[in-house]
Amino acid sequence: DHPHTADLVVFGGTGDLAMRKLIPALYHSDRDGRLSPESRVIAMSRGGLTDADFRGKVDAEVRDQVPADDQAGWQRFLGRLHHVSVDVGRDVAGRNTGGGTDGGTGGTDRRGWGALARLLAGHEQRDRVFYLASPPRTFGPFCRELDEAGLVTPRSRVVLEKPLGHDLTSAQRINDEVGAIFDERQIFRIDHYLGKETVQNLLVLRFANAFLEPIWNSLWIDHVQITAAETVGTPGRRGYYDHAGALRDMVQNHLLQLLTLTAMEPPARSDREAVRDEKVKVLQALRPITGTEVERFTVRGQYVGADGMPGYLDEPASTPPTEASRRVETFTAIRAEVKNWRWAGVPFYLRTGKRMPYRRSEIVVQFKDVPHSIYPGGAPNRLVLRLQPEEGIRLDIMAKIPGAGEVTLKPVPLSLSFGETFSARVPEAYERLLTDVLAGNPTLFMRRDEVEAAWRWIDPILHAWESQAELPEPYPAGTTGPAGAHELLGRSGRAWHEEG
Ligand code: BG6
Repeated sequence: DHPHTADLVVFGGTGDLAMRKLIPALYHSDRDGRLSPESRVIAMSRGGLTDADFRGKVDAEVRDQVPADDQAGWQRFLGRLHHVSVDVGRDVAGRNTGGGTDGGTGGTDRRGWGALARLLAGHEQRDRVFYLASPPRTFGPFCRELDEAGLVTPRSRVVLEKPLGHDLTSAQRINDEVGAIFDERQIFRIDHYLGKETVQNLLVLRFANAFLEPIWNSLWIDHVQITAAETVGTPGRRGYYDHAGALRDMVQNHLLQLLTLTAMEPPARSDREAVRDEKVKVLQALRPITGTEVERFTVRGQYVGADGMPGYLDEPASTPPTEASRRVETFTAIRAEVKNWRWAGVPFYLRTGKRMPYRRSEIVVQFKDVPHSIYPGGAPNRLVLRLQPEEGIRLDIMAKIPGAGEVTLKPVPLSLSFGETFSARVPEAYERLLTDVLAGNPTLFMRRDEVEAAWRWIDPILHAWESQAELPEPYPAGTTGPAGAHELLGRSGRAWHEEG
């Protein structure tokens, strides 16, 4: 069926996320025929650019991702792009400063919604998507002002980028403010990890194959490890990162989403609510980590300069480091537990960090030892779901090394590489998610109760960290995190999965 014609209005439209992810994803969607011919992309920023300036900027920054044989398609895509200047920074606390906006004649329209209103006028029958890739404190005010300017139509949707708030209370407030203008079914809260192919494949692997589900429980599984390791540091991001840290930036959203998909019960249908209902139950079953347990079950680290790489405090930034910079964690490891029948007693170890020695995101399910071993030297089975760099699924099984002498065992991989098995181009996460927004399918987006349940578990850890006098444990840039991260597993005789 034919895609609807849509106007996609991107706040933060000239920012880093837009240029690196959203615009390329929209171009690929266009190329694959998933944008109707009349659809438009309208970037909002305070940049004062004309359409031509903006197209030139996109051409300069994104063109190297365009295949040589698609120059005509690229020119057509550039033609869909528009730019509207809006004073996004102004009065973002968002009180109604009297009179509301006037839809375009200046006067009380201090932020400048009038120009957007003129561009959208006459297109009320189209799908309209407001994509807020702006700081979370702007979400409520922008939604309200768009509504006051008469721009929110029945066919409108709103996309909220992470982070959704900085704790439970702020997340609830944002959800209330946005919810006052949009119905829950119009609100799409993005977690781009849900758009990654392997993440969707995890559900297929679990629920479209018969062999795993019977052993997917505490009887057979020893523990689960979820790692998102990055080699990059945070150059130029200190302003954001000082107040985020790894727990808010990666764990509250990406890692907990991976945990829910690993641990959830089989839903009865693949529809939007059935899957999300099961995910919420996992978050609600997370055992709270509070008080003195925070010290036992969580680790925080900050990278220091090593091997020519700067430490967090020495990264280029527009302002000098502050006390918040010294206290923020660039690495964290947590031992979580899902308190329900299926998972009681199975640790879920979460870990993420900047400036680690490799870029790798994966879920490792470590099975228990065989109940009775007749061979020396066995090792437990392990299932590795690799999200990146290359996407694949690997099951480590024990095999006999060929030879006529004594039986010697070795773990060998049964391996599925998506790149080698499927010839189709693997779409970027944002491509899949933008397609779903345009189709109105929220299955891969976070529902209000999900986001809030995640914060409810994170909040006590944040509070305990804030009250600790110690700074995060230092770890040299380019290493696998502080000693504490290894002790977290080591004290129960376990270790992080490290080999390539
Ligand atoms: C973002 C975080 O949500 O995810 C970044 O804000 C992080 O700090 C990024 O680098 C990682 O995404 P990916 O897709 O590269 O694993």
